[in-house]
Amino acid sequence: MSLESEVRRLKEDRQAVLLAHNYQVPEVQDAADYVGDSLYLSRKAAETDRPLIVFAGVRFMAETAKILNPTKTVLLPDLKAGCALADSITVEELRRWKSEHPGAAVVSYINTTAEVKAESDYICTSSNAARVVSSVPADQEILFLPDMFLGEHVRKVTGRAMHLWVGDCPVHAKMRPEDLERARAAHPGAEVVAHPECGCASAAIPNVDRILSTDGMVRFAEETRAPTVLVATEVGILHRMRRLNPRTEFLPISDGTICPYMKQIDLGDVLDSLALGRYEIEVPPETARRARGALERMIAS
Ligand code: 13P
Ligand code: SF4
Repeated sequence: MSLESEVRRLKEDRQAVLLAHNYQVPEVQDAADYVGDSLYLSRKAAETDRPLIVFAGVRFMAETAKILNPTKTVLLPDLKAGCALADSITVEELRRWKSEHPGAAVVSYINTTAEVKAESDYICTSSNAARVVSSVPADQEILFLPDMFLGEHVRKVTGRAMHLWVGDCPVHAKMRPEDLERARAAHPGAEVVAHPECGCASAAIPNVDRILSTDGMVRFAEETRAPTVLVATEVGILHRMRRLNPRTEFLPISDGTICPYMKQIDLGDVLDSLALGRYEIEVPPETARRARGALERMIAS
Protein backbone atom coordinates (compact mmCIF):
# COMPACT_ATOMS: atom_id res chain seq x y z
CA MET A 1 0.00 0.00 0.00
CA SER A 2 1.36 3.49 -0.85
CA LEU A 3 2.17 5.93 1.94
CA GLU A 4 -0.72 8.13 0.82
CA SER A 5 -3.23 5.23 0.90
CA GLU A 6 -1.95 4.23 4.33
CA VAL A 7 -2.42 7.81 5.57
CA ARG A 8 -5.96 7.87 4.15
CA ARG A 9 -6.78 4.52 5.77
CA LEU A 10 -5.46 5.57 9.19
CA LYS A 11 -7.21 8.91 8.91
CA GLU A 12 -10.56 7.13 8.57
CA ASP A 13 -9.65 4.57 11.22
CA ARG A 14 -8.80 7.33 13.73
CA GLN A 15 -11.67 9.59 12.61
CA ALA A 16 -9.12 12.33 11.95
CA VAL A 17 -9.21 15.44 9.82
CA LEU A 18 -5.88 16.35 8.18
CA LEU A 19 -5.32 20.08 7.69
CA ALA A 20 -2.35 21.28 5.62
CA HIS A 21 -0.99 24.77 5.10
CA ASN A 22 -0.26 26.01 1.57
CA TYR A 23 3.51 25.82 2.30
CA GLN A 24 3.53 22.10 3.08
CA VAL A 25 5.34 19.70 0.75
CA PRO A 26 3.17 18.53 -2.21
CA GLU A 27 2.59 14.97 -0.93
CA VAL A 28 1.24 16.26 2.38
CA GLN A 29 -1.02 18.76 0.60
CA ASP A 30 -2.30 15.98 -1.68
CA ALA A 31 -3.19 13.72 1.26
CA ALA A 32 -4.94 16.45 3.25
CA ASP A 33 -8.69 16.96 3.69
CA TYR A 34 -8.26 20.73 3.56
CA VAL A 35 -5.38 22.87 2.29
CA GLY A 36 -5.32 26.62 2.83
CA ASP A 37 -4.11 29.73 4.61
CA SER A 38 -4.19 30.45 8.35
CA LEU A 39 -7.72 31.88 8.34
CA TYR A 40 -9.26 29.07 6.29
CA LEU A 41 -7.57 26.35 8.35
CA SER A 42 -8.61 28.03 11.63
CA ARG A 43 -12.22 27.93 10.42
CA LYS A 44 -11.91 24.28 9.39
CA ALA A 45 -10.40 23.40 12.79
CA ALA A 46 -13.19 25.26 14.62
CA GLU A 47 -16.00 23.57 12.71
CA THR A 48 -14.82 19.95 12.51
CA ASP A 49 -16.81 17.35 14.39
CA ARG A 50 -14.04 14.76 14.06
CA PRO A 51 -12.35 13.95 17.40
CA LEU A 52 -8.79 14.25 16.04
CA ILE A 53 -7.15 17.14 14.17
CA VAL A 54 -3.74 16.47 12.60
CA PHE A 55 -2.24 19.85 11.73
CA ALA A 56 0.40 19.78 9.00
CA GLY A 57 1.59 23.33 9.54
CA VAL A 58 3.43 25.05 12.37
CA ARG A 59 2.91 25.15 16.11
CA PHE A 60 0.94 28.41 16.39
CA MET A 61 -1.59 26.98 13.91
CA ALA A 62 -2.04 23.80 15.95
CA GLU A 63 -2.38 25.89 19.15
CA THR A 64 -5.03 28.01 17.45
CA ALA A 65 -6.93 24.85 16.47
CA LYS A 66 -6.82 23.64 20.08
CA ILE A 67 -8.05 27.00 21.44
CA LEU A 68 -10.92 27.13 18.94
CA ASN A 69 -11.98 23.50 19.41
CA PRO A 70 -10.74 22.51 22.89
CA THR A 71 -12.49 19.15 23.20
CA LYS A 72 -10.60 17.74 20.19
CA THR A 73 -7.17 16.16 20.26
CA VAL A 74 -4.77 18.25 18.15
CA LEU A 75 -1.55 16.71 16.82
CA LEU A 76 1.45 18.46 15.26
CA PRO A 77 3.49 15.77 13.44
CA ASP A 78 6.88 17.37 14.29
CA LEU A 79 7.56 19.60 17.29
CA LYS A 80 10.40 21.34 15.43
CA ALA A 81 7.72 22.99 13.25
CA GLY A 82 7.84 26.35 15.03
CA CYS A 83 7.80 29.87 13.55
CA ALA A 84 10.57 32.46 13.80
CA LEU A 85 8.03 35.29 13.47
CA ALA A 86 5.92 33.96 16.37
CA ASP A 87 9.13 33.77 18.44
CA SER A 88 9.96 37.42 17.72
CA ILE A 89 7.86 38.69 20.64
CA THR A 90 7.50 37.16 24.10
CA VAL A 91 4.56 37.69 26.40
CA GLU A 92 6.83 39.63 28.81
CA GLU A 93 7.86 41.99 25.98
CA LEU A 94 4.23 42.49 25.05
CA ARG A 95 3.24 43.27 28.65
CA ARG A 96 6.05 45.86 28.84
CA TRP A 97 4.95 47.43 25.52
CA LYS A 98 1.34 47.59 26.72
CA SER A 99 2.40 49.28 29.96
CA GLU A 100 4.03 52.05 27.87
CA HIS A 101 0.72 52.63 25.99
CA PRO A 102 -2.14 52.29 28.48
CA GLY A 103 -5.53 52.00 26.78
CA ALA A 104 -4.11 51.00 23.40
CA ALA A 105 -5.73 48.17 21.45
CA VAL A 106 -3.41 45.23 20.81
CA VAL A 107 -3.82 43.75 17.33
CA SER A 108 -1.80 40.56 16.98
CA TYR A 109 -1.10 38.62 13.85
CA ILE A 110 -2.08 34.96 14.16
CA ASN A 111 1.64 34.10 13.92
CA THR A 112 2.07 34.48 17.69
CA THR A 113 2.21 32.15 20.69
CA ALA A 114 -0.96 31.29 22.62
CA GLU A 115 0.36 33.41 25.55
CA VAL A 116 0.71 36.47 23.32
CA LYS A 117 -2.79 35.88 21.91
CA ALA A 118 -4.15 35.78 25.45
CA GLU A 119 -2.79 39.34 25.99
CA SER A 120 -4.34 40.62 22.73
CA ASP A 121 -7.60 42.43 21.99
CA TYR A 122 -7.79 41.51 18.31
CA ILE A 123 -6.20 38.76 16.23
CA CYS A 124 -5.85 38.93 12.47
CA THR A 125 -4.36 36.95 9.61
CA SER A 126 -2.80 38.14 6.36
CA SER A 127 -6.21 37.88 4.68
CA ASN A 128 -8.22 40.02 7.11
CA ALA A 129 -5.64 42.29 8.80
CA ALA A 130 -6.89 45.54 7.19
CA ARG A 131 -10.51 44.73 8.05
CA VAL A 132 -9.64 43.93 11.67
CA VAL A 133 -7.59 47.12 12.09
CA SER A 134 -10.43 49.18 10.56
CA SER A 135 -12.79 47.78 13.19
CA VAL A 136 -10.76 49.30 16.05
CA PRO A 137 -12.46 52.51 17.34
CA ALA A 138 -10.94 55.47 15.49
CA ASP A 139 -9.80 57.27 18.65
CA GLN A 140 -7.95 54.27 20.09
CA GLU A 141 -4.18 53.88 19.81
CA ILE A 142 -3.09 50.60 18.16
CA LEU A 143 -0.15 48.33 18.93
CA PHE A 144 0.33 46.02 15.93
CA LEU A 145 2.56 42.96 16.25
CA PRO A 146 4.81 41.19 15.47
CA ASP A 147 5.37 41.64 11.70
CA MET A 148 6.51 45.14 10.72
CA PHE A 149 6.10 44.56 6.98
CA LEU A 150 2.51 43.39 7.34
CA GLY A 151 1.97 46.31 9.73
CA GLU A 152 3.37 48.78 7.22
CA HIS A 153 1.12 47.37 4.50
CA VAL A 154 -1.98 47.59 6.72
CA ARG A 155 -1.04 51.13 7.76
CA LYS A 156 -0.95 52.10 4.08
CA VAL A 157 -4.24 50.36 3.16
CA THR A 158 -6.26 51.61 6.15
CA GLY A 159 -4.62 54.98 6.73
CA ARG A 160 -4.56 54.17 10.48
CA ALA A 161 -1.58 55.29 12.55
CA MET A 162 -0.21 52.28 14.44
CA HIS A 163 2.78 51.48 16.59
CA LEU A 164 4.57 48.54 14.94
CA TRP A 165 6.58 45.86 16.70
CA VAL A 166 9.93 45.44 14.93
CA GLY A 167 9.61 41.75 14.12
CA ASP A 168 9.76 39.90 10.84
CA CYS A 169 9.68 36.49 9.19
CA PRO A 170 13.25 35.78 8.06
CA VAL A 171 11.98 33.76 5.08
CA HIS A 172 9.96 36.69 3.71
CA ALA A 173 12.12 39.55 5.00
CA LYS A 174 15.11 38.35 3.02
CA MET A 175 13.22 38.93 -0.23
CA ARG A 176 14.47 42.40 -1.04
CA PRO A 177 13.35 44.91 -3.68
CA GLU A 178 16.54 44.03 -5.63
CA ASP A 179 15.39 40.39 -5.94
CA LEU A 180 12.09 41.57 -7.31
CA GLU A 181 13.81 43.93 -9.76
CA ARG A 182 16.05 41.11 -10.98
CA ALA A 183 13.11 38.73 -11.48
CA ARG A 184 11.11 41.43 -13.26
CA ALA A 185 14.00 42.19 -15.58
CA ALA A 186 14.33 38.48 -16.44
CA HIS A 187 10.57 38.17 -17.12
CA PRO A 188 9.37 41.46 -18.59
CA GLY A 189 5.59 41.81 -18.53
CA ALA A 190 5.10 39.21 -15.80
CA GLU A 191 2.54 39.95 -13.08
CA VAL A 192 3.86 40.01 -9.51
CA VAL A 193 2.05 38.80 -6.42
CA ALA A 194 3.59 39.09 -2.96
CA HIS A 195 2.74 38.08 0.58
CA PRO A 196 2.49 41.08 2.93
CA GLU A 197 5.26 39.65 5.15
CA CYS A 198 7.77 40.21 2.32
CA GLY A 199 10.57 42.72 2.64
CA CYS A 200 9.99 43.49 -1.06
CA ALA A 201 6.26 44.18 -0.59
CA SER A 202 6.78 47.11 1.76
CA ALA A 203 4.62 50.14 1.19
CA ALA A 204 7.52 51.97 -0.47
CA ILE A 205 7.82 49.49 -3.34
CA PRO A 206 5.39 50.17 -6.19
CA ASN A 207 6.49 47.15 -8.22
CA VAL A 208 4.06 44.59 -6.84
CA ASP A 209 0.70 44.16 -8.61
CA ARG A 210 -1.09 42.51 -5.68
CA ILE A 211 -0.32 41.88 -2.03
CA LEU A 212 -2.22 38.77 -0.98
CA SER A 213 -2.48 36.06 1.67
CA THR A 214 -1.53 32.59 0.47
CA ASP A 215 -5.20 31.71 -0.25
CA GLY A 216 -5.55 35.07 -2.02
CA MET A 217 -2.70 33.93 -4.28
CA VAL A 218 -4.43 30.62 -4.94
CA ARG A 219 -7.65 32.42 -5.95
CA PHE A 220 -5.62 34.79 -8.13
CA ALA A 221 -3.95 31.76 -9.81
CA GLU A 222 -7.36 30.38 -10.79
CA GLU A 223 -8.42 33.65 -12.40
CA THR A 224 -5.33 35.10 -14.05
CA ARG A 225 -4.81 35.00 -17.81
CA ALA A 226 -1.23 36.30 -17.53
CA PRO A 227 1.35 34.11 -19.27
CA THR A 228 3.81 34.49 -16.38
CA VAL A 229 3.34 35.30 -12.70
CA LEU A 230 6.20 35.97 -10.28
CA VAL A 231 5.36 34.79 -6.79
CA ALA A 232 6.98 36.36 -3.73
CA THR A 233 6.34 33.94 -0.87
CA GLU A 234 7.35 30.48 0.31
CA VAL A 235 7.77 28.11 -2.64
CA GLY A 236 5.30 25.49 -1.29
CA ILE A 237 2.42 27.60 -2.63
CA LEU A 238 3.52 26.96 -6.23
CA HIS A 239 2.21 23.39 -6.11
CA ARG A 240 -1.43 24.52 -5.82
CA MET A 241 -1.06 27.47 -8.17
CA ARG A 242 0.47 25.35 -10.94
CA ARG A 243 -2.08 22.58 -10.55
CA LEU A 244 -5.03 24.99 -10.63
CA ASN A 245 -3.81 26.84 -13.69
CA PRO A 246 -1.49 24.94 -16.07
CA ARG A 247 -1.79 27.72 -18.72
CA THR A 248 0.20 30.20 -16.65
CA GLU A 249 3.84 29.88 -15.66
CA PHE A 250 4.21 30.51 -11.91
CA LEU A 251 7.77 31.29 -10.86
CA PRO A 252 9.30 32.10 -7.48
CA ILE A 253 11.14 35.42 -7.33
CA SER A 254 13.99 33.46 -5.76
CA ASP A 255 14.47 29.70 -5.39
CA GLY A 256 15.75 29.92 -1.84
CA THR A 257 12.45 31.08 -0.35
CA ILE A 258 11.91 28.01 1.79
CA CYS A 259 10.52 28.00 5.32
CA PRO A 260 12.54 25.44 7.29
CA TYR A 261 9.73 25.11 9.84
CA MET A 262 7.04 24.30 7.30
CA LYS A 263 9.37 21.73 5.74
CA GLN A 264 9.86 19.74 8.97
CA ILE A 265 6.84 17.58 8.16
CA ASP A 266 6.76 14.92 5.46
CA LEU A 267 4.12 12.29 4.72
CA GLY A 268 5.96 9.72 6.87
CA ASP A 269 5.65 12.11 9.85
CA VAL A 270 1.92 12.45 9.18
CA LEU A 271 1.59 8.67 9.13
CA ASP A 272 3.53 8.32 12.41
CA SER A 273 1.45 11.09 13.92
CA LEU A 274 -1.77 9.22 13.09
CA ALA A 275 -0.39 5.83 14.10
CA LEU A 276 1.27 6.90 17.36
CA GLY A 277 -0.87 9.88 18.39
CA ARG A 278 2.04 12.29 18.34
CA TYR A 279 2.66 15.08 19.16
CA GLU A 280 -0.27 16.32 21.16
CA ILE A 281 -0.56 20.12 21.47
CA GLU A 282 -2.02 21.45 24.70
CA VAL A 283 -2.78 25.04 25.68
CA PRO A 284 -3.26 25.83 29.39
CA PRO A 285 -7.04 26.32 29.88
CA GLU A 286 -6.73 29.85 31.33
CA THR A 287 -4.50 30.96 28.42
CA ALA A 288 -6.95 29.39 25.96
CA ARG A 289 -9.92 31.07 27.64
CA ARG A 290 -8.28 34.50 27.38
CA ALA A 291 -7.28 34.00 23.73
CA ARG A 292 -10.56 32.45 22.54
CA GLY A 293 -12.75 35.57 22.31
CA ALA A 294 -10.38 37.41 19.97
CA LEU A 295 -9.88 34.28 17.85
CA GLU A 296 -13.61 33.66 17.55
CA ARG A 297 -14.12 37.26 16.42
CA MET A 298 -11.34 36.73 13.88
CA ILE A 299 -12.90 33.65 12.26
CA ALA A 300 -16.32 35.31 12.25
CA SER A 301 -14.98 38.41 10.45
P1 13P B 1 -1.11 32.86 5.35
O1 13P B 1 -2.14 33.00 6.42
O2 13P B 1 -1.21 33.91 4.28
O3 13P B 1 -1.15 31.48 4.78
O4 13P B 1 0.33 33.08 5.98
C1 13P B 1 0.83 32.26 6.99
C2 13P B 1 2.30 32.34 7.12
O5 13P B 1 2.90 31.78 8.00
C3 13P B 1 3.00 33.13 6.15
O6 13P B 1 4.36 33.03 6.36
FE1 SF4 C 1 6.73 31.55 10.30
FE2 SF4 C 1 7.86 32.75 8.22
FE3 SF4 C 1 7.67 30.12 8.24
FE4 SF4 C 1 5.45 31.63 7.91
S1 SF4 C 1 7.19 31.45 6.52
S2 SF4 C 1 5.69 29.86 9.27
S3 SF4 C 1 5.97 33.38 9.23
S4 SF4 C 1 8.89 31.38 9.67
